[in-house]
Order: sequence, then structure tokens, then C-alpha cells
Amino acid sequence: MRNGLVALAAAAISVPLGAAAARVCGNGTTTSFQYRVVDARYDSADPSRNSSLATIAASLGSSASPLYECVAQWPESWAGWYEGGRNIIWSDCIWNGAGSGQDKTVSFAVDWKKKLMYLSHTFACSDKKGFDGLATGFIALDFNCTAVAEDGTSYCTPKNTATGARPVLSISTKIAPAPLDAASACTDTSKRYQSWQLEKWLRQYEMPPGAANLRSDTGPSFTLRDMANNGVFSCVTSGVKNSIFEGACKSTSLAISTTTAKFLFDPKLNLLTITQHWECGNSSSFSAVGVSFVQATCDRGFNSDVFTCTYDQIWIGTEVI
Ligand SMILES: *[C@@H]1O[C@H](CO)[C@@H](O)[C@H](O)[C@H]1NC(C)=O
Ligand SMILES: *[C@@H]1O[C@H](CO)[C@@H](O)[C@H](O)[C@H]1NC(C)=O
Ligand SMILES: *[C@@H]1O[C@H](CO)[C@@H](O)[C@H](O)[C@H]1NC(C)=O
Ligand SMILES: *[C@@H]1O[C@H](CO)[C@@H](O)[C@H](O)[C@H]1NC(C)=O
Repeated sequence: MRNGLVALAAAAISVPLGAAAARVCGNGTTTSFQYRVVDARYDSADPSRNSSLATIAASLGSSASPLYECVAQWPESWAGWYEGGRNIIWSDCIWNGAGSGQDKTVSFAVDWKKKLMYLSHTFACSDKKGFDGLATGFIALDFNCTAVAEDGTSYCTPKNTATGARPVLSISTKIAPAPLDAASACTDTSKRYQSWQLEKWLRQYEMPPGAANLRSDTGPSFTLRDMANNGVFSCVTSGVKNSIFEGACKSTSLAISTTTAKFLFDPKLNLLTITQHWECGNSSSFSAVGVSFVQATCDRGFNSDVFTCTYDQIWIGTEVI
């Protein structure tokens, strides 16, 4: 089941994005949306495979048929939080091509300590050309966990209803305020929820057959757009420290001189950390940190040892709201 879901999600990556996906954003205060949680499952780490990673998977749709597959893996002890700390790990939900989606990106995060699942989606506003909307929501995971005595693992699925039927679960999301002006004051920006849309992920490495390690790994490069005020950055790997890629992001939108961004990418766990800092010239300077699981698809070039890994678009959030 676990590997089936991961394989399904990987296969879906190659499907082109849904055409003309958009939603009515309204005046950005009262608009809400619904997603059905068609299926969900948690698998503990498997001691027999020496993996300390737990897997959480959910299928989402607007009806009973799934349209997005959400899969994330993290060391079990982290319970969905980066190094068990204060930053929740966001992951992309992949459109499975079985219908037309209305969203540009769908992302989820799980707080396995509190058994809560958070959902965020972004979409073009059909009533406001050139604008993207963001909507966020969450659902309590009322799970039934079963231990498998033979191998020491356990798995959890949504609890059945009193009559033994599968529960009907849905997440309601609410639209976030429209983005601020790129040149808006630091103090206004600091009151907003911070998140990013990451585009054009690219990473290349060489892996000769039988080689134990990747060679000439470029690390990732990508474009980053902050959703609170539409600042655009170009991010490139600049070095590696303790097997973690680090890089800087250059602002490509002239209006923004008060903010800088940088990233770290752990290729073992496929975890990307974004840090954006606003220098406000007084005590109101602040930083936002977001963590995302980025498992891009990698294709081997014809007759070549070079793998090219790409990803179209991901949304990365910061704290949970
Ligand atoms: C936003 O739209 C809703 C529904 O159309 C309306 O009830 C509400 O008053 C509007 N709010 C603002 C601030 O315009
Ligand atoms: C797990 O790791 C230990 C020590 O690293 C090793 O001795 C053992 O054979 C491994 N087990 C499996 C199933 O890979
Ligand atoms: C919990 O899972 C067990 C094992 O699969 C099952 O027998 C039981 O009916 C489930 N209970 C609920 C409330 O879902
Ligand atoms: C910081 O500067 C901004 C704009 O220049 C101003 O609105 C804000 O009140 C200042 N904050 C503090 C704590 O001085």
C-alpha cells in the first residue's frame, strides 16, 4: 500500500497540468472551498527495512473520486515537524489527471502529534486577471491505528462510523487576503501569512551504473514568488555543507530592496528549507521559514549517465493557520 501510493504519485507527475484552472476569488474575505478526503493512511517506519521514515498519504477530490494524491515521508520521530521543531513540513499533492482540477497547486502538512492535517491550495482568480488566490484549511485525523505484531510496524486509517461504514471526510478552506503591493511597508507585510510558490525546479547529477554516490550534482535552482506581496526571486545553489545544498535567491522584482531569501536542500530526505528576511530599518525586521518535501521526477538522458530532475510548481507554507 505504501509503495503503491508513492508509485502512483510518481507516475502522476508526468501528466500535464490541468488547463484553464481557475476559481472565483470574490472580495477575498468570505470565499470558501471544499475538498473531500477520499482516502487517508499513515504507515509507521518499517524496522525490517532499516527505514526510519513514516509515510502519510491522502487522496483528495471534489467528489468521491480522487483528483490529487498527497504523499509525504519524514523521520517518524519528527511527527511531521522539521527535526521535530517549530516548522511543519509541507508537501505537494499531485494531480492524477482523472478530471479537471481548479487549482495551480495543492499542498498538505500533517501534525501527527495533534493528528491534524492542513491543506492549502492556490489558483488563478477567474474574476481578477493576473492574480492568484490562496485558500487554507485543516481537518482532524480521527484515525484507527493497528499494530502489525510480526514486523513491529503499525498503520492507521480513518475510523469507521458507528454503523461500520467508511466516514465521509471533507476539508473546508478559506481564502487568504489578496497580496499586498510589492512595495508595501514592512510592517504591513509582517502581519501577513507568509508563503511561496516555487516554479521551474531543476537539478542535474551524474550517476554511472553501479556507482555508490551521485557525481557532479548541481543542486537545485528554481524561481520563488512570495505570495504575501508578489516578490519574485531567482534561486541558485552556491555550495554544499555537510551534504546539504545551500543557495541564495536574488530578487528579480525591482520594487523590493528590503527583503532577501536563501535556501537549504537536504537531498537525502528531499527537504527544502526557504528563509526570507525583511530588513525594515528598525526593530520590525523579521524572517519567515518554510519547509517542503520536494521529490522531483528525474529522467536519465538517452545514452547518458546524467539525470535531470524537474518540478513545475509547488506551494510552500510557513506556520499552520
Ligand atoms: C465580501 O463579499 C461578501 C459576499 O458577497 C459580502 O457579504 C461582504 O460584505 C463583502 N465584504 C467586503 C469587505 O466587501
Ligand atoms: C539494518 O542495519 C543494521 C546495521 O546498520 C544491519 O546490521 C542490518 O543488516 C540491517 N537490516 C536490514 C534488513 O537491512
Ligand atoms: C479499527 O481497525 C480494526 C482492524 O482493521 C477493525 O477491525 C475495526 O473495525 C476498526 N474500528 C474502527 C472504529 O474503525
Ligand atoms: C518601522 O518603520 C515603519 C515604516 O518606516 C513604521 O511604520 C513602523 O512604525 C516602524 N516601527 C518601529 C517599531 O519603529
